[in-house]
Amino acid sequence: MQNDGGKLNSEAECDIGFIGLGVMGNNLTMNLVDHGYRVACFDLDQQKVESILAKDASEREEGSAPRVEGCSSYTELLSKLKTPHCIILSVPAGDPVDHVCHHLIDAGIQADDIVVDTGNSLWTDSVAREEKYKGKFIFFSTAVSGGEVGARFGPSLMPSGNPYAWTRIEPILKSISAKVDPQTGKPIESNTPGKPVKDGEPCATYIGPVGAGHYVKMVHNGIEYADMQLICEAYHVMRQALNMTPSDIAAVFRRWNEGKLNSYLMEISAEVLDQADPETDAPLVDVILDRAGQKGTGLWTAVSALEVGSPAQTITSAVFARSISSLKSERVAASEVLTGPSATTYTAEETTVIVNQLEQALYCSKICAYAQGFQLMAMAAKEHGWELEFGEIAKIWRAGCIIRAVFLQSISQAYENNEELPNLLLDPYFAEQITQYQADWRQSIAQATIAGVPCPAMMSALSYYDSYRTAVLPANLLQGQRDYFGAHTYQRVDKPAGKKYHMEWSDPARPQTTIKK
Ligand code: 6PG
Repeated sequence: MQNDGGKLNSEAECDIGFIGLGVMGNNLTMNLVDHGYRVACFDLDQQKVESILAKDASEREEGSAPRVEGCSSYTELLSKLKTPHCIILSVPAGDPVDHVCHHLIDAGIQADDIVVDTGNSLWTDSVAREEKYKGKFIFFSTAVSGGEVGARFGPSLMPSGNPYAWTRIEPILKSISAKVDPQTGKPIESNTPGKPVKDGEPCATYIGPVGAGHYVKMVHNGIEYADMQLICEAYHVMRQALNMTPSDIAAVFRRWNEGKLNSYLMEISAEVLDQADPETDAPLVDVILDRAGQKGTGLWTAVSALEVGSPAQTITSAVFARSISSLKSERVAASEVLTGPSATTYTAEETTVIVNQLEQALYCSKICAYAQGFQLMAMAAKEHGWELEFGEIAKIWRAGCIIRAVFLQSISQAYENNEELPNLLLDPYFAEQITQYQADWRQSIAQATIAGVPCPAMMSALSYYDSYRTAVLPANLLQGQRDYFGAHTYQRVDKPAGKKYHMEWSDPARPQTTIKK
């Protein structure tokens, strides 16, 4: 199974079986063959099998042996693999994963064979599957981020499950993952078929027991939702309040992308804003319907945050921002009825100031979104007994994945300096950064509020920051309210923790104290 420098051990046997040749599966397969693995492929749609064979033929060196073998059944796929088998699945999350697993059992998969699920599966499904398929084969999962280009040239991988299975598949996953220059923390990129990046730090690390990797990927996606929404809010302020054109905004994003906001999402946002619609020649963004879709991973993150009791309001508000966007016809009707502030015209100097403040607002909000994601992982890890290494998680997100950003290097540094860091905001570097930029952050949100431009994620990030740094929150009054109507009791600041108190609110003779000023 092990890659031996590109020379295949046997012409007759394949190293890996691959099931599911959609865009991700096709690209992951080509990534595997670029790294010297010989892959047996299967898809229910035989045209997809044909097309990957054709792709291999067009990309491999002339006269060389095929690197991909097409199969027309699960049985044929198993028969072409070296033993013990390693089979990678790239099928839609949910029932399709179990359908394939059952077919593999029927086809004769063995107890020490490994099946690796790479879909966006719900982490609890992975936990259940490991148990369900025990004794039939080893169910392992690796979450994948990076979209189609990542899959083809190096994704970020979050593997978890049986440690023995990991020792067998570690060389495969590390070889196909994205790579980072250890000195700079920047991605080493090559988008050339047949010329994979071999050096650098791999963006694949063992996350923990089954489920942990998909949990981490789920939080990655929650952060992704927040990051995307924050960028969209910055765009919205510039577009609506400042009346800037999409290409003006693209230029601003490009400038920001050269500094501390450097990230893949910033880069692609500028590209989207600069794109003309081939049909009308108008900016494409102006003809894209403002109704956001979602496949569910952001929602899962929000639900998990609520269940675990981890404050993740920026992630959650990003999910709600997608929900309200989908109420398009209601919003159009409401826009005719509900009023907001009248438009203001800004001078060029004022515009420059507002745009500069917005950059800092985006940066500070982004720090809070990541702080929430890492806090959520920490609380979930405690609950589920996982030992997550946050420095390593930040490291494997520096390249290949959708949220790759220059400041993940600082996040990994923060956790390397202090493995027990309770919150990213408490890391001296990030604390200093927010101190430096918070006046602009506050100003920017105030400005957006006055102009009537919604900024739910930025506002929630600021509230998160202000709540987290506040020693006494109004939850004292809230506990008083709960005790008043439901006798839910309260604790006292001047008595040992855990002891419960109750005021007999309905007793007309309850002690009437005189409050000393
Ligand atoms: C990734 C992406 C990928 C996908 C998400 C987004 O890390 O490569 O997160 O997993 O794009 O599923 O999905 P939605 O925006 O549709 O929820």
